[in-house]
Parts: sequence; structure tokens; C-alpha cells
Amino acid sequence: MTTAILSALPEEQEGLAAQLDGLRVVRHAGRDFHAGEWLGRPVVFALSGIGKVAAATTASALIERFNARRIVFTGVAGGLHPDVRVGDTVIGTEFLQHDMDASPLFPRYEVPLYGRSRFAADAQLVGLLLAAARDPAVDAKSHFDAETLARFGIDAPRVLQGLLVSGDRFVSRADEAGALRAALPDAMAVEMEAAAVAQVCHDHGVPFAAVRNISDRADDQAHVDFPAYLSQVAGRQARALIAALLPM
Ligand code: ADE
Repeated sequence: MTTAILSALPEEQEGLAAQLDGLRVVRHAGRDFHAGEWLGRPVVFALSGIGKVAAATTASALIERFNARRIVFTGVAGGLHPDVRVGDTVIGTEFLQHDMDASPLFPRYEVPLYGRSRFAADAQLVGLLLAAARDPAVDAKSHFDAETLARFGIDAPRVLQGLLVSGDRFVSRADEAGALRAALPDAMAVEMEAAAVAQVCHDHGVPFAAVRNISDRADDQAHVDFPAYLSQVAGRQARALIAALLPM
């Protein structure tokens, strides 16, 4: 059973493809797919680029061309919920496109003709990711260097779960983040891909889950925090989680 690990940006998968045995790089649909084996299991790593369409086309290719039978998205996100801080990890249990609005034909957020606005993560994958992320043997702070801990005031990073919302906007204003919080109070974090991949996986009956590390608070500081965080830590925790997931 082939597992696909999908991210938007190279920093979010830093060092991962190098772990594969028998690495093959396949160029398809304008992207490089890195296929091989990890602990004897078939794995393919892919980078979608940013945004819902890029993520959806890459997910389709993973399923149709690379025979992916489960997909895990890994990357960073902007924290929305008051409980979510930079450095925390959010495992997505549900996904919603916050820029979907075909009202008054359909209720706001509902994906037309699907009769739903939320797509659920695969419960088994969520369970595996939560167990790996909460492994008491792993010191959560070990994923960060001293400079990053100080810069972002990270003290005791936590592992949370809940709704991830996706849209084709980098949210970088406090008022915009506030409006999202008010409209979707259970949203934990905002990013630009996972809900699109969730819809594709739903169409194909492929289990899906997403792990997001909080790089910023989607506020007026987000455009500064996001690149700083991305360059320092994005790939490290992903590596630990994926290593734990793949033998399953
Ligand atoms: N990914 C990381 N931070 C984000 C933000 N503030 N908005 C959208 N996607 C993000």
C-alpha cells in the first residue's frame, strides 16, 4: 500500500526524500515526485506548490499515477483559535474551504453538490499521527533550535486536533483572522491546501490526514513570522512523524 506525503513547499519536507531506499524521481504534471521505499514500504513524496488547485492536481496525480492509497499532508499553518500558539502542532480532524461561497444557491462554505462543507480526516491516520506526535519519549522542544525558541517565545509546544480551514489567501491581517475566528469558532488553523486534498481524497475513497505546525498567528506579523519559521523548523517534526507512521 503506497503512502503519499504531500507538502506545499520544499522546506516542509526538508531531508525526507533522502531517507528513501531505491529513490526514483519522476517528472509529471510539472512536478518532481520522489518515489521509493521507507522501512520496506512504498512511499512517494510530492510538493504541490501553494494553493488549493495546485494541491488538488497533485493529490489526483498521487492517486491516479502513483497509486497512493493514503495521503498525509504535512506543513505549516497560521494559528486561528485562541488556544493555538506558534510552535504547536495541529492534527486536522476536519477540513473546510473558508473561501467557498456559492450563496444564496448553497449555504456559505458548502461545496456545491456534495451537500457538505466539512470533509473528515481518516480516523485511523489521525490516531497514528496523534500517538506519534504525543510520544512521551520525544521532547517536543527538540524540534526547535534555541534561536527559534527565543524568537517565537515557544515554551511547551502542544499537540492539538480539530478543524483546519483552507483558502487561496495568505491571511496576514488581524482583522481578517478575527473575521475567520468569528465565522468559524472551532477552526484551529488556516492554510491553503488541506481542504482541497480532502475533497479529492473523498472523491477517490482514499484515506487522508494532515499535520500542521503553527508558524504564525495569521495576523499583521504573519508575513514576517511565516518565512522565518519555515526556514528553521518546518521539516524537522514532519520527519519524526512520518518515520513513526510509515511502518503501520
Ligand atoms: N500558512 C502558514 N501561515 C498561513 C497564513 N497566515 N495564512 C494562510 N496560510 C498559511
